[in-house]
Amino acid sequence: MAQLTIKTGPAEGSIFELTGEPQTIGRQGDIQVLDTAVSRKHAEVHQLGDTFLIRDLDSRNGTFVNDERISGEVALKSGDRVRLGAAVLEFETEQGGGQQDVEFVRDTNAGGSTVEIRLGDKPAKVLGRAGESAAGRLLAVYEVARLAGRESSVRGVADKVLDQAMESVNPTYCYIFIRDDQTDKLKPMAWRDPISGKRREISHSIVTRAMRRHHSILTADAASDARFDQSESVVIGEIGSVICAPLIARDKINGVLYMGRDFGTEPLSDEDLQLATAIAFQTGIALENIAIHEEMQTEMMALVRTLSGAKDLRWPDQRGHSERVAAYALAVAGQLHLSDEGCRNVQTAALLHDVGKVPITENTRLAVSAAVGRTVPDEYCHPFLGMKMLEELPGLAPALPGVKYHHERLDGLGGPWGLAGEDIPLIARIVSVANRFDHLAADPVRDGRPMPMSEALETIEQPGEGLDDAITHALVQAQTTGNGIELPRLVLQDFC
Ligand SMILES: [Fe+2]
Repeated sequence: MAQLTIKTGPAEGSIFELTGEPQTIGRQGDIQVLDTAVSRKHAEVHQLGDTFLIRDLDSRNGTFVNDERISGEVALKSGDRVRLGAAVLEFETEQGGGQQDVEFVRDTNAGGSTVEIRLGDKPAKVLGRAGESAAGRLLAVYEVARLAGRESSVRGVADKVLDQAMESVNPTYCYIFIRDDQTDKLKPMAWRDPISGKRREISHSIVTRAMRRHHSILTADAASDARFDQSESVVIGEIGSVICAPLIARDKINGVLYMGRDFGTEPLSDEDLQLATAIAFQTGIALENIAIHEEMQTEMMALVRTLSGAKDLRWPDQRGHSERVAAYALAVAGQLHLSDEGCRNVQTAALLHDVGKVPITENTRLAVSAAVGRTVPDEYCHPFLGMKMLEELPGLAPALPGVKYHHERLDGLGGPWGLAGEDIPLIARIVSVANRFDHLAADPVRDGRPMPMSEALETIEQPGEGLDDAITHALVQAQTTGNGIELPRLVLQDFC
């Protein structure tokens, strides 16, 4: 498999798999790169045999591989950095190496008494099966902690842990079960079983014992192990050797790691149990961190919706506008392959973009003009007031530019600051397009009725509005393909 990963800007971390077919890179390419110095179709990558080649498509600013401008076609090797405008993408292939072992560094000047281990982004690798040596087991646990700690979803953690567990312990199959807080029951989250490819029966008595006792369990022959319910083992039949390790953090069990080897293969060992227990321990911590993070996100979103609702109560004729703008903006963010966090920030900014309308009075209008040092028309006061309302909340800092600058225009004719072009942050350019589109699609224009959706889509793409054309294009794409736009049910509709 080969891929290009965006390494800079708001879409940092987005991964594009290379299919082998010609794929364009650009502001409107198959691989979308949002940078005004990048042409719409800037470069193209395609496969020839085992090699991926890149060529420039007569772009304005050229294509660079490892900082050298290319002419004609250039073969890519793993680790190459492709630059278009200010955007950098890294090319990687599975065969390409690019990985390095964890480095142990001995400081000879200090008499060899100091050993450091560099903890970087690169994967640690052990030759052979990791579970066979103490160093291998240590690196396997390090890898689980490193990879699981970077995931932001339970499913992401489960997938990374299973891959590592399969590689290092080498069981026939491996499952992760997550405890449902509401029902207190275990649910299978993910599993690996490359040989049979189908789900297996799981020993209820082994799992129950591991959870009740907060112990990891190894049984080399569960069917004949006196600790377990024989009647159930008979039903399960030949389950071979099994390890079940609870996923514990702060004395709370979040689930179990369950793995086994079939009869006829070498049974799982004490060393495998130690390794699986350490992996489960790291997994429990990663899951707990995700739970804490999600709780904070939920509370923050409740605050955001409360503030957004306050604006609707103050200006009932505009109710629903912020929620619709958030839906459009979120769809655009998805279309632009922003990270999960980037999408969340866009949604938050869109929900709050007009919150500064709550305190508008004649006095605040004058105060805004004095603060920015220019006469600010009425309609551009609320971004400033919104900023003042929200700037003391650190959790909203990444979304704040979307509120503050959503009435700036690329041509510099917006306000209140009068920024232009790339000086306007991407998040604000997205909110600006979503905001404009909702005004087109929802405000009454003829006989008290809004513009038909098809006409609104045509209008938003027309130049002259000071909007970012790559973003308007993304909105039109999202709307016409139905890609992720879910218009909200208005909670306050009946109330106001
Ligand atoms: Fe606004």
